[in-house]
Amino acid sequence: MTKRIWQGRVDSTRRSVVMQGFLASAGAVLASAPAARAFDLPRPAKLRDADNGIETSGRGSLRAHAEARGLLIGCAVNMSLLEQQPSYGRVIAEQFNVVVGENCMKWAALRPTSTTFDFKQADALVAFAEEHKLKVRGHNLCWHENLPKWFAATATKENARQLLTDHIHTVAGRYKGRIHSWDVVNEAIWIKDGRSDGMRVSPWLELIGPEYVEIAFRAARDADPTAILTYNDYGLEYDTPDELAKRAAVLSLIERLQAAGAPLQAVGIQSHLRTGDIASLGDGVHDFIKKLHKRRLDSFITEMDVNDDGLSEEDVTQQDRDVATVYKHYLQEVLKEQSVKAVLTWGLADQQSWLQAEKERPKHPERAQRPLLLGVSDGVYSPKPAFYATRSALDEAKRR
Ligand code: XIL
Repeated sequence: MTKRIWQGRVDSTRRSVVMQGFLASAGAVLASAPAARAFDLPRPAKLRDADNGIETSGRGSLRAHAEARGLLIGCAVNMSLLEQQPSYGRVIAEQFNVVVGENCMKWAALRPTSTTFDFKQADALVAFAEEHKLKVRGHNLCWHENLPKWFAATATKENARQLLTDHIHTVAGRYKGRIHSWDVVNEAIWIKDGRSDGMRVSPWLELIGPEYVEIAFRAARDADPTAILTYNDYGLEYDTPDELAKRAAVLSLIERLQAAGAPLQAVGIQSHLRTGDIASLGDGVHDFIKKLHKRRLDSFITEMDVNDDGLSEEDVTQQDRDVATVYKHYLQEVLKEQSVKAVLTWGLADQQSWLQAEKERPKHPERAQRPLLLGVSDGVYSPKPAFYATRSALDEAKRR
């Protein structure tokens, strides 16, 4: 079984068992090139790549390379792992200067009932970040997904506006002055819903109307005068007709918000990418970032990962090479613009990625994805080719 897992295969019928084995199988990550040594060393972590002498901690960390360019580099944090695995937090603290909760600041996590809040995990994230001098991105205050179970039965046209503004005042107010940037509204554009303004027919839109976006931004500004207020979305990265239309719809939404005087300061480009299609990745998003800058908006790469389900080769070395190529190409392109201030990946290590869910692997349900910068085995983290690709893209960026 170890060998099969070592090759990166997942038995979908026994996924959890096999994924644990995958996590535990020594060498799962060392199969990738360049081979590298572990991150899980006692502090101060002195990490040196055993085989090629490349230092990947301290001066060699992503954090050091990003800071030399005035950039933020980070990842989404899974609170269970942060609580349970000491090396997880150590690696994050060493490699990054910004974090975002993968789920802990979403409605479903914060709102056990319509009248109560549970801040345990969100508080733990902020405390961890402050202890290690990491900035925190808040994700998110308003989204059509991840709403608590009680929401559908409780929210009405009469109370939805109050529900939204109370939530934002309470959550953004609690962390006032301690959040680098809030994703105030997430994924409000969905062209396929057929509206002329491109807006997604979400519970918020249906209950409040399209002005819910502006309402959310104003509430966030009232609650926290210093956080950078961000609109975050996906499907903005490729030069396809769909994504061209989505970029245009996001720009129109932004124009409307700015015309109304809404306090919007940045756009989060999620950047859930895929292997292949590299030729259609770069020009459109670059142009989009320039247009945002003309509107005095910064851009953040907020949720980067590379889905390799489409790759036909059954070879982890090839998976890692193709994934790294996408990181390098994309980051070189977007970092040309100095208004791009932050790059975050959606998770720390491959084995912990949301892309391991079966629905994200329709073409190769038997194969694990390798979408991130690191791999982990037995709590021991190793840099992958995508780590080095990212680091060298940071090095090429102009100083912010
Ligand atoms: C995902 C998380 O990674 C999963 O653990 C969760 O089950 C669903 O949400 N766009 C977003 C993120 O803005 O919040 C999503 O995160 C991934 C897509």
